[in-house]
Amino acid sequence: MRKHVIFITGASGEVGHALIRRLAEDGGNRLLSLDLHSLPDDIRPLTTHMVGDILDTSLLGRLVSEYEIDTIYHLAALLSTRSEFTPEMAHQVNVEGTLDLLKLAAEQSQWRSRPIQFLFPSSIAIYGMPDLESKNLYNRVREWEWNQPRTMYGCNKVYGEMLGTYFCNHYRQLATEQPVHIDFRCVRFPGLISAFTLPSGGTSDYGPEMIHAAAKGEAYNCFVREDARIPFMTMPDAVSALLTLAAAPREKLTRLIYNVTSFSLSAGEIRDRVIAAFPAAEIRFEPDAKRQAIIDSWPADLDDSAARRDWGWHPQYDVATAFEEYLIPNIRERYRERSA
Ligand code: SER
Repeated sequence: MRKHVIFITGASGEVGHALIRRLAEDGGNRLLSLDLHSLPDDIRPLTTHMVGDILDTSLLGRLVSEYEIDTIYHLAALLSTRSEFTPEMAHQVNVEGTLDLLKLAAEQSQWRSRPIQFLFPSSIAIYGMPDLESKNLYNRVREWEWNQPRTMYGCNKVYGEMLGTYFCNHYRQLATEQPVHIDFRCVRFPGLISAFTLPSGGTSDYGPEMIHAAAKGEAYNCFVREDARIPFMTMPDAVSALLTLAAAPREKLTRLIYNVTSFSLSAGEIRDRVIAAFPAAEIRFEPDAKRQAIIDSWPADLDDSAARRDWGWHPQYDVATAFEEYLIPNIRERYRERSA
């Protein structure tokens, strides 16, 4: 008999690490994961991990023949800065990879005549404010506003949302009598900050990079202006958002795609909080015009009232507790251990 599993793609990324740890806390979950990279020693025992490419359809076929997949967390993606250097590859991973996974989910659901849950992290990058004036005027954007991304990653994610919605509601609507049940659920994340890992290839990376650099005693040149403002959230809250949305009763959900957020800070305000914790930190602002333009196109804040209303979303950490209770103590400890 095939083993029931929760399948996690992009397992070696920041969200992947944190999600696997949390899912493994519930001893009843059996995890299967996939990434181009292997996992660190402390996470490896928590999941059956395959090193491979989500675009390798024969590998996906082998997984399906061996495992019965109940839920998919499709985290694999190239982030926004990285995608601008290799837009065609970003399209392959971010769009074709998502399509392959949705197809796999559809086949699994038809085969067992039961729904497959498909959790998809989308991003603030799907928004595109045309200029700073609009960004200042339309402060907290709602899900359906300003969906005009200016990055390849943003285009890929908004299309991933559409593909998920299509697979959930209309996939093969004219071609088959056999129903396909994909229970697609999506959260749009703001910039994420982990105390334990660093992102790679994103444009919101200046937030986490500034804090980690200060704790390491390294100088940091921030690539956006002091007044650049976007929303952020801690990694534990990002994982909670995915898990809480996954656990919500379907009938409570009025949307398939939800904004989630915690606090909105300018780069200068992040600097002030970092200096308060690490007074010797050396932080300079040397904006890179192109990366700055991407941040300027992202909204200053997200309206997540639909998530709060429908499935009780609320972040554990606000801006004060995020820094005082989660980020600063854990990051301090992390680099103290390393230098000891
Ligand atoms: N953190 C992502 C990035 O910067 C946005 O979702 O690309």
